Amino acid sequence: MAEAIAEAIKAPVFAITSSEPSAVEDFDLLIVGTPVEGFNPAKETTAFVERLPKTEGKKAIIFCTCALWKGRTFGTLKNKLSSKGYETILSTSKKMKKDTPADFSESINQIQKAIEK
Ligand SMILES: Cc1cc2nc3c(=O)[nH]c(=O)nc-3n(C[C@H](O)[C@H](O)[C@H](O)COP(=O)(O)O)c2cc1C
Repeated sequence: MAEAIAEAIKAPVFAITSSEPSAVEDFDLLIVGTPVEGFNPAKETTAFVERLPKTEGKKAIIFCTCALWKGRTFGTLKNKLSSKGYETILSTSKKMKKDTPADFSESINQIQKAIEK
């Protein structure tokens, strides 16, 4: 999903598990995504957001993939991002179905609209 979004909006994509959170300092908008695990963000995503440098006036977009129910995923990330100085302007999710190619166009459209605003 990250790669589909990055390609659509011509943004660089970074893997959370192998990137330093300080890499975000070069950008005004952070789009951060995660698979849902146990009704929450994957622990790697939470750890990454907790290590972000504090900022002011930057915006964030959250996306997630899940099988059925995303639970507290958006709330958890939104709160942690807020404590780092980010205003979340959009949260968008995609339910993944086994054996069906994923179509991320709805989330990509939402992200493009949010960025235009
Ligand atoms: C340990 C674990 C916990 C998960 N917990 C949830 C969950 O609470 N809710 C949910 O909808 N999906 C859950 N999933 C499914 C993942 O979100 C899903 O596998 C992921 O978004 C990627 O989709 P894919 O496996 O179809 O590629 C879980 C998966 C794993 C491995």
